[in-house]
Amino acid sequence: MTYWTNKVVMITGASSGIGKGVALEVAARGARIGLLARREELLKELAGEIEARNSKAVAATADVRDAQAVRAAADRFRNELGPIDVLIANAGIGTSDHAVELAPEHAAKVIGINMLGAVNSVAAVVPEMVERGQGRLAAISSLAAYRGLPKSAAYCASKAALSSYFESVRIDLRNTGVDVTIVHPGFIKTALTAGREAKMPYLMELDDAVKKIVAAIEKGKKTYAFPWQLATIVRASMLMPTSLYDWIVHRNSFRE
Ligand SMILES: NC(=O)c1ccc[n+]([C@@H]2O[C@H](COP(=O)([O-])OP(=O)(O)OC[C@H]3O[C@@H](n4cnc5c(N)ncnc54)[C@H](OP(=O)(O)O)[C@@H]3O)[C@@H](O)[C@H]2O)c1
Repeated sequence: MTYWTNKVVMITGASSGIGKGVALEVAARGARIGLLARREELLKELAGEIEARNSKAVAATADVRDAQAVRAAADRFRNELGPIDVLIANAGIGTSDHAVELAPEHAAKVIGINMLGAVNSVAAVVPEMVERGQGRLAAISSLAAYRGLPKSAAYCASKAALSSYFESVRIDLRNTGVDVTIVHPGFIKTALTAGREAKMPYLMELDDAVKKIVAAIEKGKKTYAFPWQLATIVRASMLMPTSLYDWIVHRNSFRE
């Protein structure tokens, strides 16, 4: 028996990268998985891969910006797999726009997916979790949530909002049996970081990152930032005078 045995886990952004990796990992540890993303073919392929390993998975196509579609997907998972024990709100997109070129529609898209998409996902599961008196909400935020970074205004804003939102949710849900884990990863090798020429400090292999994320959820951590080297630098930067922070970070863009 593991923490994941017979748990029903809903994962948004499950068609690739971290979401797919976490789905395979927790399925291997005995969970039944509700897979949500927009690319149907990839989700079906992944569901097949999980079923071939003797676990159960259901694929539901939805855009996390569509609250009704997310709720319908969660209903399908509940009907076919059982009550949802863990939500992993992972769906997200990256950006690399200089502030001068950042179109408001693009910023709205990033915030719509990365932040409001997670709100839609929580809304689709939390009333039932509270009613049952058990459940865990996990958010895949980012170390980019802590301070602004160059060419990342929309992304940093979306992740800062996401982390604050989940922190508030955690406080509201105190004593309900439903807890929250906010994960702040650094750079991980996925489609989101592929093709970037800029130097990404402490860039991690996907498998290593997946194991750390799964362990943090399993241990019931309230927040978890990794890799520790970059997390320490980011935390130290929060104590830095603003002008020094701006000078250092301006010289070290992580995006072209
Ligand atoms: N890679 C990193 O270095 C890194 C670091 C910190 C945090 N993160 C965060 O980790 C999460 C996963 O990213 P990743 O690196 O694994 O990138 P990825 O491989 O590009 O995965 C992103 C996932 O989000 C889904 N998605 C995007 N827009 C969606 C929408 N509107 N509705 C539903 N699903 C949507 C994608 O599926 P479809 O396109 O099929 O919909 C895909 O499954 C993101 O929130 C990202 O911000 C990544």
